[in-house]
Amino acid sequence: MKLRHLIDIKDFTEAEIDELIEVAKDIIDNPVKYSDKCHGKKLATLFFEPSTRTRLSFEAAMYELGGNVLGFSEAQSSSAAKGESVADTIRTVSNYADIIAMRHPKEGAPTVAATRTKVPIINAGDGGHNHPTQTLTDLLTISREKGRLTNMTIGLVGDLKFGRTVHSLINAMSRYEGIKFVLIAPEELRIPDYVKEDVLDRNGIEYVETTDLEGAMPELDVLYMTRVQKERFFNEEDYLRLKDSYILTPDKLQNAKEDLSILHPLPRVNEISTAIDDDPRAKYFTQALNGKYIRMALIIKLLEEADAFSIPGSTAERWAK
Ligand code: NCD
Repeated sequence: MKLRHLIDIKDFTEAEIDELIEVAKDIIDNPVKYSDKCHGKKLATLFFEPSTRTRLSFEAAMYELGGNVLGFSEAQSSSAAKGESVADTIRTVSNYADIIAMRHPKEGAPTVAATRTKVPIINAGDGGHNHPTQTLTDLLTISREKGRLTNMTIGLVGDLKFGRTVHSLINAMSRYEGIKFVLIAPEELRIPDYVKEDVLDRNGIEYVETTDLEGAMPELDVLYMTRVQKERFFNEEDYLRLKDSYILTPDKLQNAKEDLSILHPLPRVNEISTAIDDDPRAKYFTQALNGKYIRMALIIKLLEEADAFSIPGSTAERWAK
C-alpha cells in the first residue's frame, strides 16, 4: 500500500478535495459525531518556521478529534539547531506519531520528508513554494461564502512572487470551470514565470496582470489580500520600499460588488485597514476558523488511508513489525 501525503495541492484530485470540503461542512454541523474519531492517535507538528494559525489550528483540529499532539514550534528548540537533517528528524518522529504536519523555510523539504517517513506527511508551508492546507482552507471558505468554486473572478493582491498561499491557490482554482484571475502586484513582486507557464498558460486560464487595485475592483468576486513576505527578501531596503504597496481601506471598496468576499491568509501587517474588519464582506477571520475544520477533515482522510483506524496500535508500530 502506498502511503498518501499532502505535499502539493495537486496530490489530491478535485473529487477528493470536494469530499474534504463536504466532510468539513459536516464537522461544522455535527461536531459530536467526530469528537472521538482520532482517539489514541498522535499528530506531530514540526514547525521550523513561525506560525500562529496553521500550527494552532492543526493542534486544535487533532484535539477536537479526540487525538493528541506533540511537536516543536521553532527550529531552535529541536535538534535542527544541532545540525540534524530534515530526513533524520522525520525518520525519528515517524516512530512517535501517526501523522506529521511540517513547515520548513526550504522549498522541497516536505518532499524529502516524504521519502523518509513511515506515516503521512502534511506540508504546512515550504519556503516561497506551496501551502496546500491554506489552500484547502481558502477553498472551504470560498465554497461556504459563494456556494460554488466555479465561474468567478479572483483578484490576488500583494506579494505574488514569494507568497506561497497564492501559488497553491492558483494551482487549485485553475482546475475549476470559468475561473479568471486578476493578478495585482508591484512590478518586482509579480507572479513567477513558472506559475504562469506551468499552471495558467498550460491550462488555458484567463488572467490579467496589473498594478491597479481600484481599477480591477468592480469585477472581483473574491479579493485575496496578502502580506509582503519580509523573511524572503535579500535586503531590507527593498522590503521597506515595497511593504505598503497595497493597503485596503474602505474608500477602495466603493466600486466593489455587494457580495465580494475579502480573504487574507493572515497574518495581516498593513494590507487591510482594521476599519474593514466590520464590513460584512470581510471574511478573513472566518477563513482562519475554517482552517481548523478542513484540517480535521484532512487528518481523518490521511489516517484512514494509512489504515490507522482498522488495526490496533499506532501506524508506526504496525510498520515496524
Ligand atoms: C501564510 C504563510 O505562512 O504562508 N500564513 C498562514 O499560514 N496563514 C501567509 C503569510 O505568512 O503571509
